[in-house]
Amino acid sequence: MGQKEEELERTDAGVVVVKPKPTKGLTSKAIDWLEWAFVKMMHDPKEPLYYLSGNFAPVDETPPFTDLPVKGHLPNDTWYAHQRWKSNLCFPFCENITTETRGVFWRTKVYEGTHGNTVYVIIGDLKGMFGLITVYMEQLRAKLKVLDLTYGFATDAIKVLEDGDLETIGMLDYDKRLSHSFTAHPKVDPVTGEMFTFGYSQKPPYITYRVISKEGMMQDPVPITVAESIMMHDFAITENYAIFMDLPMCFRPKEMVKEKKIVYSFDSTKKSRFGILPRYAKNELLIRWFELPNCMIFHNANAWEEGDEVVLITCRLQNPDLDMVNGLIKEKRRNFTNELYEMRFNLKNGLASQKRLSVSAVDFPRVNESYTGRKQRYVYGTILDQIAKVTGIIKFDLHGEPETGKEKLEVGGNVSGIFDLGPGRFGSEAIFVPRQPGTTSEEDDGYLIFFAHDENTGYIAHLLHYLKS
Ligand SMILES: [Fe+2]
Repeated sequence: MGQKEEELERTDAGVVVVKPKPTKGLTSKAIDWLEWAFVKMMHDPKEPLYYLSGNFAPVDETPPFTDLPVKGHLPNDTWYAHQRWKSNLCFPFCENITTETRGVFWRTKVYEGTHGNTVYVIIGDLKGMFGLITVYMEQLRAKLKVLDLTYGFATDAIKVLEDGDLETIGMLDYDKRLSHSFTAHPKVDPVTGEMFTFGYSQKPPYITYRVISKEGMMQDPVPITVAESIMMHDFAITENYAIFMDLPMCFRPKEMVKEKKIVYSFDSTKKSRFGILPRYAKNELLIRWFELPNCMIFHNANAWEEGDEVVLITCRLQNPDLDMVNGLIKEKRRNFTNELYEMRFNLKNGLASQKRLSVSAVDFPRVNESYTGRKQRYVYGTILDQIAKVTGIIKFDLHGEPETGKEKLEVGGNVSGIFDLGPGRFGSEAIFVPRQPGTTSEEDDGYLIFFAHDENTGYIAHLLHYLKS
């Protein structure tokens, strides 16, 4: 935290009440104007504004509705809140990718008040010379106090009100113990109630692992050594271990400018490394590293222990290139695959193996989180088209064997169901909500909750899919 403790106002729950005081007026307007000029100058009007149109168009804040038309019926045994976060329209010429948006939305509150909108840097903007300018502009805003950064790093504390609206309570810094970034994909052990999390950084330590007790006490940081700054988007836990993924999506700011790339680029000369650490370790001395052919992974489904092995179910990307994900170089995506995989790490003999469980393209895998860290059977993924849009939801049965010779995702083998959203409709990650929490009922007895957007009508539906019927 940047402020002195005596200056911080906290709620009874220890949440820091955030009252940013950005400098407004001429300075703020001048920087806005300068940035606007850069954006105008550097944007090639021939390039499509892919991530600012159609399915990815920015959205306004939407108040809670109580009288929406309902087709089918809503379950009366489930109460849920599902929020959709998207970019706002600060700089309509900026392209961005959706990566990391869940991880950074909390930062917006720090900057709020400078524009009437919120301003934050996302990885997709860090590309080429524009990326460098973006960094300089942020530094300039911070220096001139147009951005109030005094509250530093923390997670947002948000309250869901009775009418479904959201209220920001403040920032949760775990009693000043959190001083680094916080993954968008922490894991909660369903049995112990503990949260396991990490942050990655552009400066050493590049990875920091944390355990948070059920009562909310954040344990001391455990730095994890990797050779250089990488993008580590997710990790996994089992009953006894935490699994870290040292994958060669490397932070390369010089290449960003020289080669007009996104600031993180995939180094295909490097192997992928998976580190398995006893999950209550106080340091990294006991970590075991395993190597597999190079790949990138954004999202894991789950992990568990089986005899001497740790099993990881994940979505593995071959030959990833964030520029291609960015939607501009579609024709070069031929070798870029995104498939469900099973990886095994043998703690006894130190060997690792992997097995492909699907064809491309599947990502955002979810499971019944009552089984986090434990062996489970069903995985719910999203089917992606060639331009990173979700066209459907797919249910995998890990007890089934993948069918060989397939070129596209179809029901059969280990695919027990596909829910196609239909032409022009694109969805979000599907979250599994069990009808009964815990593991006493069947694992797939529950609902999938996700958004779907119709690009033709602009209508956004919130869908529930009941799995057992
Ligand atoms: Fe993610």
